[in-house]
Amino acid sequence: MKVTVFGIGYVGLVQAAVLAEVGHQVLCVDVNADRVENLKKGIIPIYEPGLTPLVEKHFASGYLNFTTDAQAGVEHGEVQFIAVGTPPDEDGSADLQYVLAVARTIATYMQAPKVIIDKSTVPVGTADKVKATIASVLAQREQAINFDVVSNPEFLKEGAAVNDCMRPDRIIVGTYDDRPKDLMRELYEPFNRNHDKMIFMDVRSAELTKYAANCMLATKISFMNEMANLAELLGADIEAVRKGIGSDPRIGYHFIYPGCGYGGSCFPKDVQALIRSSEQMGYTPRVLQAVEAVNNKQKFKLPELLKQHFAGDLAGKTIAIWGLSFKPNTDDMREASSRVLMEEMWHAGAKVQAYDPEAMEETQRIYGVRDDLTLVGTKEAALKGADALVICTEWQQFRAPDFELIKAQLKQPVIFDGRNLYEPKRLALRGFTYYAIGRGDSVRNPA
Ligand code: NAD
Ligand code: UDX
Repeated sequence: MKVTVFGIGYVGLVQAAVLAEVGHQVLCVDVNADRVENLKKGIIPIYEPGLTPLVEKHFASGYLNFTTDAQAGVEHGEVQFIAVGTPPDEDGSADLQYVLAVARTIATYMQAPKVIIDKSTVPVGTADKVKATIASVLAQREQAINFDVVSNPEFLKEGAAVNDCMRPDRIIVGTYDDRPKDLMRELYEPFNRNHDKMIFMDVRSAELTKYAANCMLATKISFMNEMANLAELLGADIEAVRKGIGSDPRIGYHFIYPGCGYGGSCFPKDVQALIRSSEQMGYTPRVLQAVEAVNNKQKFKLPELLKQHFAGDLAGKTIAIWGLSFKPNTDDMREASSRVLMEEMWHAGAKVQAYDPEAMEETQRIYGVRDDLTLVGTKEAALKGADALVICTEWQQFRAPDFELIKAQLKQPVIFDGRNLYEPKRLALRGFTYYAIGRGDSVRNPA
């Protein structure tokens, strides 16, 4: 099948690559000319395990191509994916300008019937807007061309995106009527082999399914962070509690890891967008408001512990940070907890000496060159002469470090662990002061 994908970001590029992998002929369109040129040279704009070989293979085979020529894109595909960003507006609602711009583009150039698939995460009612936009441009062009708009939200996780797209848990398809259903089945047939993963519904339910899924997961995390804060005050260990509740299959072990707050390009913006949608309907979403408030506060947890430990005097201190990306296996820094930490440290007059396996280039791009930020090439180099070590992201290589080396390099043996990687008792025996999240009375009386 001939497929066009508008937007070559995390979602568009991964989706395009896996569609090419199963034999669809995919043309990707982006307004970012540098991105398109780089992709043609084999330079992949994001770090995502397994993505580079797929893109290289299918660009070479001709199944995957890139262009800035929107007209060529519209002409190419019988299905047209919209996979552009939907960043938060000033008030937190999803900004639909990019989605609607693509809808106008498709309507401007289409000469034959098309199925327009909304892959971006968009508020309920957006498919109606896409449909109305296309209809109005076609009316101006005095063209009566059939088209279908389908809501087909994406559930991939960064860091595991290729696998998530190759082996989706479910394929949600929201349609206005039966007409596009068969084409959608054909498109996804290669990913739908063992059992039927396709769930058809109306477009509004499909749009809400995406927000409901992300908000449910964000709720689990904020709930656990609240329990972790309580565990600290009550002298309990959240790690024991996590295992205790996770063993109940109705709760499960997934997404109940406490930490220094959730980040990324999805949870923070999607929780916010659903809050705004609710408010626009005159409804106060109390659970979502609490989820957001708990997370915003949790991102200040590590800076607060540091301020407490150094009695408010961080001026002139050097803080080593391990892990900058919002989660492991990505270079994405959007809404990363490390950003709140770094900015708080700079505000207090401290310097940051940081290491991340993939996100340092992105960190440099965001913050530029500054005296109080040193990005170093190894986790060991980050420790040199630092007053404390802080862990923001649980990259595998941080799980079993050489503690004697850490002790030797730091000015004092103190670790602030935002991801609960180590055993407090073991670190105490090794002579560390160890702050973690929700682990007994470690905050009032660090080990
Ligand atoms: P992104 O910011 O990485 O990429 C968006 C791309 O769209 C950019 O390359 C941009 O240049 C391009 N673009 C903007 N306007 C365009 C236009 N008119 N024509 C062509 N290209 C255009 O975004 P992303 O992270 O891939 O997210 C895309 C959507 O998918 C969002 O709605 C997001 O919420 C959703 N989503 C993201 C993830 C994720 O993990 N990143 C997961 C599921 C869903
Ligand atoms: C999320 C959804 O999981 C995915 O289905 C959707 O398509 C896009 O949004 P992503 O943002 O890539 O994916 O990462 P995810 O693994 O969900 O983690 C999000 C944040 O939550 C990270 O900052 C992570 O550290 C944090 N998290 C996750 C926790 O703090 N505790 C957990 O138990 C799980």
